[in-house]
Amino acid sequence: MPDTPPLGTRIAHIGIAVRTLDSSVSFYRDVLGMPEVPLDDADGARIAGLAAGPSLVELLESERDDSPIGKFVASRGPGIHHICFAVDDLDATLDRCRTFGIRLIDATPRVGAEGKRIAFLHPSSTSGVLVELTEA
Ligand code: CO
Repeated sequence: MPDTPPLGTRIAHIGIAVRTLDSSVSFYRDVLGMPEVPLDDADGARIAGLAAGPSLVELLESERDDSPIGKFVASRGPGIHHICFAVDDLDATLDRCRTFGIRLIDATPRVGAEGKRIAFLHPSSTSGVLVELTEA
């Protein structure tokens, strides 16, 4: 038995691609009143975290044109980039993805911006949404 009861799948964060953090943070922080949460850079992006209850909004500003966020903004402009779901058991969830034929971007978990194990799923298997999975 696990030490803590399962929490169930929940939204960990929503990743939003922005042109600049400076021009984007104010709406969430000053208008919506969301507290800032410090986060490390990841995947060639600077990240501003803003708390929405137990979930986060992560504003993602590209550090390089050839980073994933840089390419996204260049081709589509700013907008929702991905949704991250926290699951109780990442390895079991990835096994279920394989069983159901879900296309994985990360075949094995890697360490993400918040220092937790993550894995991305391909939008072609998830109704066009880039899905990130992480653990509690
Ligand atoms: Co993310």
